[in-house]
Amino acid sequence: MRTPLIAGNFKMFKTVPETVAYLIELRALVRDVHGVDIVVAPPFTAIHAAAAVVRDSNIAIGAQNLHWEREGAFTGEVSAPMLFVAGARVVIVGHSERRTLFGETNESVNKKMHAAIVAGLVPIVCIGETLEQRTRHETLAVLDRQIKEGLDGLTGAQLAGIVLAYEPVWAIGTGQNATPAQAGEAHFHIRQRLKQWFGLEASDRCRVLYGGSVKPDNIGTLMAAPDVDGALVGGASLDPKAFLAIIRGAAI
Ligand code: 13P
Repeated sequence: MRTPLIAGNFKMFKTVPETVAYLIELRALVRDVHGVDIVVAPPFTAIHAAAAVVRDSNIAIGAQNLHWEREGAFTGEVSAPMLFVAGARVVIVGHSERRTLFGETNESVNKKMHAAIVAGLVPIVCIGETLEQRTRHETLAVLDRQIKEGLDGLTGAQLAGIVLAYEPVWAIGTGQNATPAQAGEAHFHIRQRLKQWFGLEASDRCRVLYGGSVKPDNIGTLMAAPDVDGALVGGASLDPKAFLAIIRGAAI
């Protein structure tokens, strides 16, 4: 049985004081919530302060990106060990905004994922097709390539500890979420591939989240789709009460 996971991706929203105020409120709201793991990923600047607010609580802090080298002359980049020491325990890798706006490829996703694991961070590896690819009926082939190349070199034991997020690009920030049938089809396919390439036991333990316009009023039906183990939430995670409703909607 996989514990559901709800992760909030703040994207480029909230300053340090705004993140701290949010987490003070969320910490109190989720104090008695069980049966679901909770992650909040603020911008880099707020990670350290955020980690201090959630210490000894049921909320973990995530980052939204990393560089694969430990250190070096890479102006503007942040490494996995730096994130870990700042208090992050999770990191989002290969988000579609990074793929489309910042040139992220399956190859860089793969390097970042391995670097995260070495540093003790749980990577949330994002995959998903564009509208154009869906229209051309390429969705499953795109997912296959993202899984094969993005997770290259991963052992079964490592797969069991990472998280995948299926985020159809056309559903992100558009208010147009995938139907439970569309999400279910993609998640079923992803799980089959993980079984095929990493074995039954490891694939059974790897959590696969859905992301794209998840809101309090659709989390229930999305969670009911087969093989959906939680959600990666953008816009609706910015309000602690809306995020709480999503967390409650996923708890078992
Ligand atoms: P929205 O929930 O705003 O559609 O964003 C989804 C997302 O990109 C989470 O990483």
